[in-house]
Amino acid sequence: MDVQHLAIIMDGNGRWAKKRHLPRLAGHRAGADALDRVMHYCKDAGIRYLTVYAFSTENWKRSKLEVSGLMRLLSSFIKSKAKALVRDGVRFRVIGRRTDLSEKLQREIAALEERTKKGDFTLVVALSYGGRDEIVRAAAKFSEALRLSGDDADHEQVFASCLDTADIPDPDLLIRTSGELRISNFMLWQSAYTEFYFTDVLWPDFGREDFDKALEAFSMRERRMGGRLK
Ligand code: FPP
Repeated sequence: MDVQHLAIIMDGNGRWAKKRHLPRLAGHRAGADALDRVMHYCKDAGIRYLTVYAFSTENWKRSKLEVSGLMRLLSSFIKSKAKALVRDGVRFRVIGRRTDLSEKLQREIAALEERTKKGDFTLVVALSYGGRDEIVRAAAKFSEALRLSGDDADHEQVFASCLDTADIPDPDLLIRTSGELRISNFMLWQSAYTEFYFTDVLWPDFGREDFDKALEAFSMRERRMGGRLK
């Protein structure tokens, strides 16, 4: 089975910068370059969806300097990449509590989502995102959605349609870089049957070889999805 949707916890930017005696933000900048590279690897590999954890609901606790630097980086990513995303057929989407973001950033996001809506490769950026928060927000919409879809509806499907990822398939493979072995509140509902791949490589160093190794590991797994082996 091929990877249709790849999710990534892009971890290790801070350690990458520290090793080079650089400010943490330099690590995040190098992380944004890594994302650009990996997006191209995904397209070459025929992957249709890439979801990246760029800012969690917990990341607001970081220093003011780091938070504002990350927000500026996101805004400049949107501005500097807009043309290339349209040209390359990338559909840009944001999941998470977008109302936590500044109004200016919200407007920039909405404009880029609109401009890129016809793309056939989807880049999903999780911003002020937490899996539990997403589930709680979905639960608030659930009973109304169930009422509209009728008694015979599949409840899990109706619930999934209330999540931020409503029209996006569940990830097949989740990669976490930098040696941490946790899911850290990322895509909790969506990763029920996802294969996990952990690597010690720090995110800014993640390159073509590391990407190929992860896909190779995935291709060796037997995905039973709760069923029996054939
Ligand atoms: C985790 O590394 C990384 C983040 C909290 C931010 C990820 C953000 C980017 C890669 C920026 C680019 C994103 C876009 C969409 C332009 P860490 O800081 O926790 O690293 P550490 O554990 O080594 O300190």
